[in-house]
Amino acid sequence: MTDSKIVLITGASSGIGAATAAHLARAGHHVIAGARREDRLRDLVESTDATVGGSLSVRRLDVTDRADVASFVDDAVANHGQVDVLINNAGVMPLSRLDALLVEQWDAMIDVNVRGLLNGIAATLPHFQGRGRGHFVTVASIGAHQVVPTGAVYCATKHAAWAITEGLRLELDPAIRVTTVSPGVVESELADTITDADAAAAMSIYRAHAIGPEAIARAVAYAIGEPDDVDVNELILRPTRQR
Ligand SMILES: NC(=O)c1ccc[n+]([C@@H]2O[C@H](COP(=O)([O-])OP(=O)(O)OC[C@H]3O[C@@H](n4cnc5c(N)ncnc54)[C@H](OP(=O)(O)O)[C@@H]3O)[C@@H](O)[C@H]2O)c1
Repeated sequence: MTDSKIVLITGASSGIGAATAAHLARAGHHVIAGARREDRLRDLVESTDATVGGSLSVRRLDVTDRADVASFVDDAVANHGQVDVLINNAGVMPLSRLDALLVEQWDAMIDVNVRGLLNGIAATLPHFQGRGRGHFVTVASIGAHQVVPTGAVYCATKHAAWAITEGLRLELDPAIRVTTVSPGVVESELADTITDADAAAAMSIYRAHAIGPEAIARAVAYAIGEPDDVDVNELILRPTRQR
């Protein structure tokens, strides 16, 4: 029997976020899922049968908007009485070489992957501290552990996500748990925002052996489901054939 939790997840309109929101709702958790594409969020609700005890609700959310993230969390507390888990999953990956100077895409990655993460932490941390418990889950990347050509800025944002999450672990009351999940290549829409032709060509080869997003959903469910005295700090998952 699942210990039912109130779980917030960002970036749930496709890929890993959608799969994780659906998986957790089916496992009996109460999931509140946010992203900007409301039509895709509605599709997710329609395609997800939560089991008895679980639920899935959705709302529009832009993680780069600090006030919007704050109301995402505050509304959940008002409606459900508490938040147990925040999954900071929203991310973008418009890869390119640095000398392509796609500076607006650098900014977009920093805004979503780093500022969006920090906005989620800022909105949720006082609530977790007030309750003396809670669980932050960050979806980072294998790019938190390595740098690849065309991925300098993306990998920098994921190194930052790793560092910020490790900082939480070191600074916070140990009753607040902290997990970083670092996926390798996963089927999703993440590469669709690449406009640089060379990076897009390299990505289509790199992504040949992707695994399904359910693999990441299962990892998140495992971390959340461990008893309170177990803190699953980091998980790296990649396709068996990925090097
Ligand atoms: N797929 C992989 O191979 C892989 C590998 C390692 C790490 N990751 C990480 O996994 C996470 C999920 O990505 P994915 O692979 O599932 O890609 P995806 O299918 O493109 O999903 C990205 C999600 O982020 C949301 N998002 C983007 N900007 C946002 C914003 N400003 N506010 C709120 N939500 C926003 C998107 O929703 P809207 O556009 O509707 O807002 C979407 O739901 C990302 O952090 C990514 O870096 C993925």
